[in-house]
Amino acid sequence: MKSNNSFFIMLLTIRCLTLVCVSQDFDFFYLVQQWPGSFCNIQRNCCYPTTGKPAADFGIHGLWPNYNNGSHPSNCDPDNPYDESKISDLIILMQNNWPTLACPSGNGTKFWAHEWNKHGTCSESVLSQHQYFKAALDGKKAVDLLQTLEKADIKPNGTSYSLNQIRKAIEDAVGFPPGIQCTVAPSGNRQLYQVYVCVDTSGKKFIRCPLMPKEKCGPSIEFPSF
Ligand SMILES: *[C@@H]1O[C@H](CO)[C@@H](O)[C@H](O)[C@H]1NC(C)=O
Ligand SMILES: *[C@@H]1O[C@H](CO)[C@@H](O)[C@H](O)[C@H]1NC(C)=O
Ligand SMILES: *[C@@H]1O[C@H](CO)[C@@H](O)[C@H](O)[C@H]1NC(C)=O
Repeated sequence: MKSNNSFFIMLLTIRCLTLVCVSQDFDFFYLVQQWPGSFCNIQRNCCYPTTGKPAADFGIHGLWPNYNNGSHPSNCDPDNPYDESKISDLIILMQNNWPTLACPSGNGTKFWAHEWNKHGTCSESVLSQHQYFKAALDGKKAVDLLQTLEKADIKPNGTSYSLNQIRKAIEDAVGFPPGIQCTVAPSGNRQLYQVYVCVDTSGKKFIRCPLMPKEKCGPSIEFPSF
């Protein structure tokens, strides 16, 4: 009788914990893309992937679960590590859209494993490994940053553009203003480095960012070639 009771209580406890975990995992995602030209023209530690120089296009940095208070969960489930066999059908797309630029040159596995283990595991109640990487790839395709900017006559040719003009072009495509981060170009000017858009917890819908990442861009920023 006693043991039956404690088993029942244990079940209840597990159910409650599970409910809490599922509903308070995270509040939204940042989908972060980076311009390789602004990483590689300043970082002595930029190395092209073993598969070759990436296309002159924005690359995915990550899809990061975040809290509305600005902090973010990380490394949420060591028992569900990156498993490339689960995403073998996505590898070619990943190589083309999510290239590693870290040194020494790698084939991407280390980068993707880091992104899943640190960030992806924190949204595993919503997205499986395959769904997580697919959501990031689909998000990048839906924004199509380079084409969006080029349509607004903003080209990666070393010219400076107004930050507002860049933000507006992306807002017109996504529906909401993006967060924009810069690095310092060799010229000393700020240059377009990372673009943040926000995605709801399903990983499928763009939303207005509950809060913007820290930005350090001037009113006019360079868009270097790659
Ligand atoms: C932010 O919110 C999360 C989830 O509610 C919480 O776990 C975390 O401690 C909060 N962090 C800060 C810095 O308030
Ligand atoms: C990358 O290299 C590692 C180690 O050699 C290997 O296990 C992995 O399958 C490779 N990944 C890809 C995408 O080629
Ligand atoms: C870069 O492209 C823009 C937009 O087409 C153009 O206005 C600008 O003159 C170009 N700059 C250079 C250096 O070619």
